Amino acid sequence: MAIRIDGKLVSAYLREQIKKNVTALKEKTGVTPGLAVMLVGDDPASAVYVRNKHRACDEVGMYSEVITMPADTTEDALLVRLADLNNDPKIHGILVQLPLPKHISEEKVIAAIDPRKDVDAFHESNVGKIMLGSYDFLPCTPAGVMELLHYYDIPIQGKDCVVVGRSNIVGKPQALLLLGENGTVTICHSRTKDLATKTREADILVVAIGRPNFITADMVKPGAVVIDVGINRLPDGKLCGDVDFEAVEPIAGAITPVPGGVGPMTITVLLKNALKAAQKSLK
Ligand code: GUN
Repeated sequence: MAIRIDGKLVSAYLREQIKKNVTALKEKTGVTPGLAVMLVGDDPASAVYVRNKHRACDEVGMYSEVITMPADTTEDALLVRLADLNNDPKIHGILVQLPLPKHISEEKVIAAIDPRKDVDAFHESNVGKIMLGSYDFLPCTPAGVMELLHYYDIPIQGKDCVVVGRSNIVGKPQALLLLGENGTVTICHSRTKDLATKTREADILVVAIGRPNFITADMVKPGAVVIDVGINRLPDGKLCGDVDFEAVEPIAGAITPVPGGVGPMTITVLLKNALKAAQKSLK
């Protein structure tokens, strides 16, 4: 039976360290790290994520603001609000919750975030730095996956790593981070032929394709480390990942559950990035 990789446990451990560093920064400099989260429209899943981010900031002693704007907000109005946050000295990190309503260009909005406050690491200058192997911020979800691998002492160097999914938020940066630690990386996606042949090669399989129970037992090599980034809501309201957990757990070497695996790590890295942004703002 696989080791169950516990994202709640690792998050609690890391958030305790972040909290200590927030306290130290406040005592030394009087500065409280501040995060602004913008939520446009009324997507219920996004509202839950934003609430969790707000609460997490509180728990580590950070200041946070949630800015909610209606679904019919214009792009210009959003950009004006964003410019205010770029200039607000209380705010060190800015996160615009995605997806945005269709009439607003995500590209334009992300480009308008001050890269020094871009705690998602979505701005082209931050993406470019990651590509080149140096960085200020790492994107929250893929960096959270790396933290899990490190905490559980899972070796990456020389391992066959297969990433299923090629989004800008997870798949592409995940591949770069694994490559940065000397993994041999294959990126697969919805058009990949013989997908199961490729996933079965993986020593480390990271799945972020957004389809419930997409990875079945026959697609996993016995003993592989399986990291499930998916969060899908089934018709009965239950959450499930992209991996068929029940079927894969008996053959994997280690596996993340959903919920309680990668999910909590995303917010933990966000807190880490907001702290770093505050520390860097003083330099
Ligand atoms: N929507 C889903 N994941 C994310 C994320 O990591 N950051 C932002 N801003 N929006 C998201």
